Amino acid sequence: MMRAMVLRVSLAETEVVDDPALRDLLDDAERARADRKRAPSPFVTAHAHVRRVLGDLLGVDPASLAFDRHCPTCGSTQHGKPTIVGHPQWSYSLSYTDALAVVAVAQGPELGVDVEHVTEADFGGFAQVTLAPEEADGFAGHEGQALLAARAQVWARKEAILKATGHGLVVDPTEVVVTGPDEDPALVDWRAREERPTAVTLADVVLRCPDHRASVAALTGEPVEVVTLR
Ligand SMILES: CC(C)(COP(=O)(O)OP(=O)(O)OC[C@H]1O[C@@H](n2cnc3c(N)ncnc32)[C@H](O)[C@@H]1OP(=O)(O)O)[C@@H](O)C(=O)NCCC(=O)NCCS
Repeated sequence: MMRAMVLRVSLAETEVVDDPALRDLLDDAERARADRKRAPSPFVTAHAHVRRVLGDLLGVDPASLAFDRHCPTCGSTQHGKPTIVGHPQWSYSLSYTDALAVVAVAQGPELGVDVEHVTEADFGGFAQVTLAPEEADGFAGHEGQALLAARAQVWARKEAILKATGHGLVVDPTEVVVTGPDEDPALVDWRAREERPTAVTLADVVLRCPDHRASVAALTGEPVEVVTLR
């Protein structure tokens, strides 16, 4: 009997810490970017975390890793979706808030991960900025913290897709229609003029940190299994 293929995505979260030793893992360009931040700890923690997780999985020294970037919008190699130099069969994605960094890694298709603090969804124009008109119905019955958590989850689904494609918020998230917060995560419709990805599988992620929501998108038709690394 044929077994269905499942894409295994490794996911690792870490709390943001203020640890100067983490800077030793970064390269010169990352340290220069960190130095330009008013509060560098989230950036330093996140990029050190990427290097540690990838270093473990690939069996290389974290500090030796190098990254290329590519922007599908303008073709620049100075910004945009990052890839790992010398390991083209691996995909990864990074997302972080002031408190938490999350990295997703897999062999094969493009990945996007997004993490949101639930309070980031606490603003009046959320529906106008984020949702297609019909998506607003999915939030009926959600109030208070549950409403913010539902918003953060749907926002994370959309941004995970747009990080997997590499477009980021160049694509208007109201044009990326996903299932409602109480439904299994899936891309429902793509209304942007940018090319629709041929296949997208979405998974919501259960984090240890309770006030955040996260989702992973993979540009594949296969089901995704998210395995949390400890
Ligand atoms: C990608 C994007 C949505 C991430 O936004 P965010 O919520 O602030 O940040 P997250 O913590 O979730 O993710 C940040 C990480 O995503 C990755 N990333 C950056 N651009 C990316 C892209 N286009 N696609 C996928 N991943 C991207 C990087 O690892 C980045 O970390 P870094 O900024 O420290 O290097 C946002 O930066 C964006 O929309 N970028 C596109 C802007 C653009 O292309 N403009 C047009 C230029 S011509």
